[in-house]
Amino acid sequence: MDSIVFGPDLALGIPVLDQSHRVIFDLLESMAAMPRPAFDQACRTLAVEIMEDLREENNLMERIGYPAAEAHRCAHGKLLASVAHILPLLRDGKEAAARQIVRSLPDWIEAHINTMDLALAVAVSRVA
Ligand SMILES: [Fe+2]
Ligand SMILES: [Fe+2]
Repeated sequence: MDSIVFGPDLALGIPVLDQSHRVIFDLLESMAAMPRPAFDQACRTLAVEIMEDLREENNLMERIGYPAAEAHRCAHGKLLASVAHILPLLRDGKEAAARQIVRSLPDWIEAHINTMDLALAVAVSRVA
């Protein structure tokens, strides 16, 4: 990804998801050159925003009886696992490793939106 921007190409047409994805991308963009300790606080905010987004999607999948829910939830679990490493790394003085995880997130999330979230959005639109 050349720049960390939530553009119209990433919009799914589900306002609650588009809004939380936008918040996450805006946060990631602002974190790229953010010094500490502001970066640490932004990592906490990022974890909360990502958890909110994933919870919203998990709830949506449950509500519509989404057939691919298990694989999608599993991908969310992997994202959460890597996000969970960030703050302990910062606490242990491993800032470079923490920043590396943060830098990897835009590409991961973009790929996830373009595949699993998009498939979920299509399924939601068929039910609605
Ligand atoms: Fe998402
Ligand atoms: Fe998702």
